[in-house]
Amino acid sequence: MAEVIIVESAEAAGEIAADAIEALVGGRPDAVLGLATGSTPLTTYRALATRGHDLSRVRGFALDEYVGLEPGHPQSYYSVIQREAVVPLGLNPQLVRVPGDDGTDAGAGERYERAIEEAGGVDLQLLGIGATGHIAFNEPGSSLASSTRVKTLMHQTRIDNARFFDTLEEVPRHCITQGLGTILRARHLVLLAFGENKAVAVAAALEGPVSASTPGSVVQLHPRVTVLVDEAAASGL
Ligand code: GLP
Repeated sequence: MAEVIIVESAEAAGEIAADAIEALVGGRPDAVLGLATGSTPLTTYRALATRGHDLSRVRGFALDEYVGLEPGHPQSYYSVIQREAVVPLGLNPQLVRVPGDDGTDAGAGERYERAIEEAGGVDLQLLGIGATGHIAFNEPGSSLASSTRVKTLMHQTRIDNARFFDTLEEVPRHCITQGLGTILRARHLVLLAFGENKAVAVAAALEGPVSASTPGSVVQLHPRVTVLVDEAAASGL
């Protein structure tokens, strides 16, 4: 059963998520953090950055990445993670991985899974949720047991993410993403969602049937989930 906390603002949620990360890293400076991209985790990174902890031994694994963008492209998730998390938090870039950072060949997903396993698994995974109910880039229809693999992006997700690009045409059509099975192996999931356009996805994920049509519903299968939502995102609950 997920613990659902309704917060006043994205900033308040960021403080609570940062508390959880602080508690984890306080006990284990080399903890393994599951990093997310998108606008949702930004308040968490900002809150954590102001606390001035030494996070240089933390190991990080990002959820997903576009296929076809150079790592140096400003919208590649590699760049986003560098800009939003690695630099402000003082993470060691050598200890932070992004899916596909060593290629997107057929073995790439398996290598990423192995790297997570060798690190001892993810201790705390930050998660946003897309308006289609997707988590990471696991679009509706993704197998509940899936692991890291290359996927095709849904048209709606490309439209949603077009705001980060000059034109829709520039939004990649493929991605490499941790699977729902990968995400479920993390020991603590912290799912954040803000704004009215997430209300339907949040309600379906938390209260609808566990189903591949709502990938976010897999959180119902996890024993330790913290959900941080503002009033608007919670309005369908
Ligand atoms: C993208 C990412 C997801 C993210 C989702 C929501 O598709 N791949 O990991 O959760 O968008 O994005 P935002 O947080 O910007 O609403």
